[in-house]
Amino acid sequence: MGRARAQSHTARISYGPQYLLVDWSDGHQSGFDAIWLWDNASRHRDQSNGQRLIDVTDLPDDPRIASAEVQGQHLAIGWTDAGMPSHYELTWLRENCYCGLDALRPASPVVFWRAADSAWLTRIDADEIWRSEQTRHSWLMAVALQGIAFLRSAPRREGLVLELARLIGFVRETNYGRIFDVRASVEPNNLAYSDIALRLHTDNPYRDPVPGLQMLHCLTPSEAGGASLFADGFAIAESLRTDDPDAFSILAQTPIRFSFRDTTAELSARRPLIQLDLQGRIEAIHYNSRSIAPLRLRSAETVRFYAAYRAFSRRLHSSEFLFETRLEAGDIVLFDNRRVLHGRTAFDTTGVARHLQGCYLDRDGMLSTIAMLERKLGDGEYRR
Ligand code: FE2
Repeated sequence: MGRARAQSHTARISYGPQYLLVDWSDGHQSGFDAIWLWDNASRHRDQSNGQRLIDVTDLPDDPRIASAEVQGQHLAIGWTDAGMPSHYELTWLRENCYCGLDALRPASPVVFWRAADSAWLTRIDADEIWRSEQTRHSWLMAVALQGIAFLRSAPRREGLVLELARLIGFVRETNYGRIFDVRASVEPNNLAYSDIALRLHTDNPYRDPVPGLQMLHCLTPSEAGGASLFADGFAIAESLRTDDPDAFSILAQTPIRFSFRDTTAELSARRPLIQLDLQGRIEAIHYNSRSIAPLRLRSAETVRFYAAYRAFSRRLHSSEFLFETRLEAGDIVLFDNRRVLHGRTAFDTTGVARHLQGCYLDRDGMLSTIAMLERKLGDGEYRR
């Protein structure tokens, strides 16, 4: 192994033909494979936007390190056959270390909640969102980590959800429009637009992708009934994983079809009720009794699926998880539609007409806004 003294916050570099070790002065050690270093040389990236200029097929099969030297705040590597040396900023190398310790850098903690925790869900006055970027950041972080947050005392102005959406990210337009009006109508194309109770659900699991966020603005509350219901689908799924792992596995591993059709649209998508990521963490909940299509499973699987589905649903509607609240005129709620289930109690249509206005937003737009606010405020770090 060759050796050279590094400067600044590095302590020492060591290298062989196919591997480079950096002992940083903070005590951390990073290891970099030669092929990774060749790929990530600064000359292979556009200097203004940082995007890669080469394709993986441009890499040599087996690049070999001939020399490695720290020059100021840069590392220079010479290659056995590849001609030009490669250069790296030391701070960039430290930030992009991929050894186990940094690869396991935890994501920001998701905060599960149950009905008893609902008192501490975030509720602030709507004008704070426009007035203070710090408050806007905190409110969006609540949506990112708890899946839901409320605003009080917003103006009762039609279209306000689109004004607020511009502060958060981008509206997801669907066949219901950029904006949708939730009020009772005769022969609605969706039961949401009736006066009946809607049990807890996530919206539109028949779309691909499923709408990430939903915002609802109460313009006129009902005089009787029409309370809003919410539950943390992640908390329910985790409790099912603990208490009934077989049911959890069935719901996570059985794709089911959701569908919707009316005179202008025909939508269909297949996905599991509990969606996991590659590490087995819960990524999304897809639950909607109105739009789940007839099951098409083998007979034994059908019986087992119904038992697991019922086990999830019983938890969902239990007082342990179900949080009931009333949206007053001017209240706004923003929630993660891939996590938080929502519903409502039936309402009386004889008096003043209940009217909520809503829109869907893409989740990545909100996460980008959080990151941009952090860049501007120089504060906080939301990690995905
Ligand atoms: Fe809904």
